[in-house]
Amino acid sequence: VKDGNGIKGLVDSGLSEVPKIYIQPINERINKQDSKPCDTPPIDLSKLNGPEHEKVVNEIVRAAETLGFFQVVNHCVPLELLESVRDSAHSFFNMTPEEKVVYRNSASPSLKMRYGTSFAPEVEKVLEWKDYINMVYSSDEDALQYWPHMCKEVALEYLKLSSKIVREILKILIGKLGVKLDESKIENLIGMKMVNMNYYPACPNPELTVGVGRHSDAGTITVLLQDGIGGLYVKAEDENNGGNEEWLEILPIHGALVVNVGDALEILSNGKYKSSEHRVMTTSTQSRVSVPLFTLPKPTENIGPFQELVKKDGYAGYREVLWQDYMDNFYETAHDGKKSLDYAK
Ligand code: SIN
Ligand code: FE2
Repeated sequence: VKDGNGIKGLVDSGLSEVPKIYIQPINERINKQDSKPCDTPPIDLSKLNGPEHEKVVNEIVRAAETLGFFQVVNHCVPLELLESVRDSAHSFFNMTPEEKVVYRNSASPSLKMRYGTSFAPEVEKVLEWKDYINMVYSSDEDALQYWPHMCKEVALEYLKLSSKIVREILKILIGKLGVKLDESKIENLIGMKMVNMNYYPACPNPELTVGVGRHSDAGTITVLLQDGIGGLYVKAEDENNGGNEEWLEILPIHGALVVNVGDALEILSNGKYKSSEHRVMTTSTQSRVSVPLFTLPKPTENIGPFQELVKKDGYAGYREVLWQDYMDNFYETAHDGKKSLDYAK
């Protein structure tokens, strides 16, 4: 996939079989029979401002402590904006190869912005069936300088509003740990942001491939916009099945955003909040887009379990790490479940 048009280019050229480099070993393939829909109802964020505040807070905390993934509705992002963000993702990937190639790593106008395919192609034995464009930024002002023109305005508006959701949820989760942090400390825990537009082209044989392999997100909190196609699976411990692994599909819900806990928050909370393994299946008929906003600690932060918790729990489940080092390690390793967290063990 060197022509600047990613997997989409392969598929558009009339591919009828999955090339070998994308064929997953059997144990990594996603089997629909082993999974079921996640049946937890979405959390209504508008109720945080009413008499049911405490109930909603408890729903959020419970979700973060168990599956580590939940969906939110009646959030501050207008539904038309969600639609525009998805449309602009399609517009980007539908550009001609010549238009897109200028965004490839080697040609990118900035290190903060790159267009690529698969997660870590240099170290992966099998590639993921995904093209993406990724941007790292720290403030809304510096965001989007190099972002493709057709996405700029909607993206900026979307990112501002979805970071509000992150902030609100993070404050609730930290508050419920009994930890007091001032505003600036909270901001440092989400001081680096990364946004992706992911494109999973329709695949001739989805059973053989993965859109994204098993991984947990590195950061603090992720907010994910998906479309109506589905295919995002999260690993849960099935209590009725002797702790056997079970995969739950985060079904698309109209107007909802998916929120999940990342490694940094699992570490900070001394393991109370779960950064769960998840993966993405591809489909044979339609291309799927998703837009995750990852919020991460500033690279200069030292991240370890909150001292209050270490005292209370009587142990530290993780060591303190410099966040830049954690990220370097994260990007040097192919997706392999929760292995990234071993770096902090
Ligand atoms: C990811 O977890 O990397 C992507 C999730 C998705 O596309 O639904
Ligand atoms: Fe992820």
